[in-house]
Amino acid sequence: MCGIVGYIGRKKAYPILIKGLKRLEYRGYDSAGVAMIDDNGELNVYKAKGKVSDLEECCADKNVCGCAGIAHTRWATHGEPSSANAHPHCSASGRLALIHNGIIENYATIKDNLAERGTVFRSSTDTEVLVQLVEHVMLSNGLGLLEAVQVSLRQVVGAYAIAILDKEHPDTLVCARRSSPLVVGLGEDGDFYLASDASPIAEYTDRVVYLDDGDVAVMRLGDELRVVNLENGMQHPKVKQIDIALGELEKGGFPFFMLKEIFEQPDCLRNCMRGRINVEGDHVALSAVIDHRERLAGARRIVIVACGTSWHAGLIGKQLIESLCRIPVEVEYASEFRYREPVVYPDDVVMAISQSGETADTLAAIELARKSGAFVFGICNAIGASIPRQTQTGVYIHVGPEIGVASTKAFTGQVTVLSMLALCLANERRTIPGEQYKEMVAELTRIPSKMEEALRTNEQIERLAPIFTYAKNCLYLGRGYNYPVALEGALKLKEISYIHAEGYPAAEMKHGPIALIDSEMPVFVIATRDKLYEKVISNIQEVRARGGRVTALVTAGDEQIRQLADHVIELPDTLECFQPLIVSIPLQLLAYHIAVCKGKDVDRPRNLAKSVTVE
Ligand code: AGP
Repeated sequence: MCGIVGYIGRKKAYPILIKGLKRLEYRGYDSAGVAMIDDNGELNVYKAKGKVSDLEECCADKNVCGCAGIAHTRWATHGEPSSANAHPHCSASGRLALIHNGIIENYATIKDNLAERGTVFRSSTDTEVLVQLVEHVMLSNGLGLLEAVQVSLRQVVGAYAIAILDKEHPDTLVCARRSSPLVVGLGEDGDFYLASDASPIAEYTDRVVYLDDGDVAVMRLGDELRVVNLENGMQHPKVKQIDIALGELEKGGFPFFMLKEIFEQPDCLRNCMRGRINVEGDHVALSAVIDHRERLAGARRIVIVACGTSWHAGLIGKQLIESLCRIPVEVEYASEFRYREPVVYPDDVVMAISQSGETADTLAAIELARKSGAFVFGICNAIGASIPRQTQTGVYIHVGPEIGVASTKAFTGQVTVLSMLALCLANERRTIPGEQYKEMVAELTRIPSKMEEALRTNEQIERLAPIFTYAKNCLYLGRGYNYPVALEGALKLKEISYIHAEGYPAAEMKHGPIALIDSEMPVFVIATRDKLYEKVISNIQEVRARGGRVTALVTAGDEQIRQLADHVIELPDTLECFQPLIVSIPLQLLAYHIAVCKGKDVDRPRNLAKSVTVE
C-alpha cells in the first residue's frame, strides 16, 4: 500500500531516496516524505501532500543533505492524505523518525496508554503511535534502539514494514517487517539500501536479503547486516542475487507505463514460455509439475484464490483446467474465502494467483489453506515476494516488473501460465489426445505474434476513444472464456477512467442489465468466432433492438457482425481457450485511450494502490 525506501552509506542519500520513491509510487501516492540526518547530526523531515514530484518541489529551495535517510510514499489508511499525516513521523523528543507500510490494528489502545502518560500526538496516524511507543520504551527502560524496537513490536498487533532513523546513531538504520514486504540491498562499500521491493535497489546492487515475518534488521555502515527474529532469535541472512533490467523500470519512450506494458505483452509471453515450451513448440514442462506430479495431477479439486484482475485470470484458469484436465475447480475471492470457514480437504490443491505476491487477503487465504493441510501452489510475478515464499511450489509468470497500477501484462502472463499448467496436467492425466495436446501447445507459442497483430488496432481504438468519454456507464458482454475477459475489460475502464462499467455473461443481460440499455449506453461485445458465436449475435440483436450502441470485437473477416454493430474491431483468430490473450489487448487499449482522452493519470489512478497489503 505504501512504499518505503532507506539508505545509509557514504553517498548523498536524497537523490537515491527520491529516485527510489518514484519507482515505488505505484504502491501509493497521496503524500510523500523524507527524513535525513544532515552533516551536523540534525534530523530533518520534509513532507508534502500529493505525489513524489510535489515533495521534490517542496524540497527544491532547501538544503537537503546527509548520507542517511528514509523516505515514504503513502496510501492513506488511518488519517486523511495531508502533510501532517505523511510519513516519516517523529518521536516526541525529535530523536527518532519512522516510516511504516501496513496497519497497526491495536493503535488506539497503545495511543490511549501513551496519552495517559503525557504523550502528545501530532497526527491521526497509527504510525505516529508506533514511533512514540518506541521512544517511550527506550527512555523508560534505558534501552538501545534495537532492543526498544523489539519490545515495542511485541506489543503491536497488525501488519508492518518499518524503518527507523535515530539521530544519536547516524550510522545506523533499523527496520522490521511482519506481513508487509521489505528488502535490504547490500552495497559494495558497506552501505545499505532498503525498500518495499527490489526496484529502487537494483541499480546500486544485485545482492539483496528479503526479510521474513518477525525479522528486525540492523544496518550499520561498514558492518555486516544483523537480523534478529522476534520469535526465533538471531538469523543468518540469506543473500540472493537479483536480476532486474533497469530498462524495465523506465517508460522507454511511452507516455505512460500502462501503454508500455500493453505493448510489451508479446515479448512478456515469450519470456513466460521460454524454457517451459520446447524449441519444437509441441511440449510444455513446468518444474513445479515435474517435482509434484502426483500431488498436482492427482488433485481431488483445485481451489483458486485471488483478488481483482488475478481473480479474473483464475476464472479463465477454471475453464482451462476443467475442460482440459477434468479436475473440478472453484475460484474464490481471497477476501471472502479467508473469513467464511470454507471446506478445504487435505487432497485439495489451493492455487494462489497474485501479480505482486504481497496481497494481504491472498496471503491470509494461503495461511488458511496450509492449516487445512491442502497443497498450496502460487502463481506470481514479483520474484522473491511473500506468496512464492509461503507456497509449497509454484510458477513465476516472468513478465517483468509491472508499474502501471492497472494490471495488463501480469493478467496475460497469469493466463499463459494457467494455459501451460492446464496443458501439462492434461498431458499427465491423459485427458486430451496426444495430437490435440501438441496442436494446442503449438498454438500457444503463436499467441505472441497474434498479439502483435492485435496491437495494430491501437490507432483505430485511439480514434474511437473520444466517442466514449461522455459515457457514464458501459456494459461489457462476453461468453465462455470471454466472460472473464468482459469482467476484466470493465475493471480496466473503471480503474483508470472512473466511468462505471459492468462485465456480464452476454446471455444474462436479459435477466436485468437490459433495462439499462439506451442510446447513451456503450456496449462492448466480445463476439469472436467460437461455439457460442451465433448466440452472441442474438445478444447483439437484443442490444440493437433497444437502441444500444454496440462496439464488437470480432474475428478478422467477420462480415455478419459488421452489418449489426456500430463499430467492429477485428482480431486474429485462435483457439477458443486462448482468445482471452488476444481479446484483452483491445480492451486494455480502449480503457487506456478513454482515460487519456479524459485527462486522467493513467498510471496512478485515484484511491488505488498497486500492491494491496492491507485487508
Ligand atoms: C488490477 O488492475 C488491479 N489493480 C487489482 O485488481 C489487482 O489485480 C488486485 O489488487 C490483486 O493484486 P495482486 O495480483 O498483486 O494480488
